Amino acid sequence: MAVRALLHYALEVPDQSIGEKFYRAFGLEEISSRGDAVRLRPPSLVRETVMLYPGRRKRLHHLAFGAPGDEMEAVKASLAKAGVREMDAPAGAPEGGIWVRDPDGNAVNVRAEGRELPPADRPLTLNSPGHIARVAERGCPEGLSARPRRLGHVLLFTPDPDRQIDFYTRALGMRLSDRSRSIVAFLRCTTDHHNLALLASKGPGFHHASFEVGSIDEIAVGAQRMLDVGCEPGWGVGRHVIGSNFFYYARDPWGSFAEYFHDLDFIPEHCAWEPRDFPEEDALYRWGPPLPDYFGHNTELD
Ligand SMILES: [Fe+2]
Repeated sequence: MAVRALLHYALEVPDQSIGEKFYRAFGLEEISSRGDAVRLRPPSLVRETVMLYPGRRKRLHHLAFGAPGDEMEAVKASLAKAGVREMDAPAGAPEGGIWVRDPDGNAVNVRAEGRELPPADRPLTLNSPGHIARVAERGCPEGLSARPRRLGHVLLFTPDPDRQIDFYTRALGMRLSDRSRSIVAFLRCTTDHHNLALLASKGPGFHHASFEVGSIDEIAVGAQRMLDVGCEPGWGVGRHVIGSNFFYYARDPWGSFAEYFHDLDFIPEHCAWEPRDFPEEDALYRWGPPLPDYFGHNTELD
């Protein structure tokens, strides 16, 4: 009885054309404009997954989750039970669904829609010790570029992770997948290990959004491309501990990030997944370049 999809995220940004350029280089495509917002999507999808509204500074405009079929009524009931009042949609926001604020004041739209999944890739053919998947065929990819397939998750800064966890699990029905102490928590509403993550900070903020790509090769060529087009260095390539995915974080024009991910933990709905509380020193990454000091910086508080 819950939300079942992270549909899109919307940011306010001081210069929409700079934002559009960044996300195009990252591999998204623009959908013809409607209203105030620039709307972008992975090339194989129909619906927007990123919206950029004009604003004074970069900040989250809203998050949209999907509650298809009977889930919508169930979500309304659990919001009412949790004492969360519906509010009017922000100006210029997409029509439809219901609007609430989470305890940090972030606008949240719950829409009667399910996930939009991209067409499946051909299986990867990787040779490994004792397991040959590619025979008499060259494996080095030709003409490769990073092609985001879908939005996977968003990570928000929060001054109170436990209060946010309580809201997103109790009122919206998400589940806790893993956490590290009171520093970071990972919640899911699909078979992805996480669709929303919460990182402790002195105030709210948007840290990153993450898009699935088809291979670690795609992550690496995407990382190089973002540097080639003039982005500041981000972080990666590396492998996370929590969620297990390979990653590269491209630094966006406002000091937050867009992540490429591949090979994330998959958690079927009816399975005995036990959330773990990881020690701080072994929560972030198994290998990769040293963590840059700007990675955990909440530029919205500057
Ligand atoms: Fe991420």
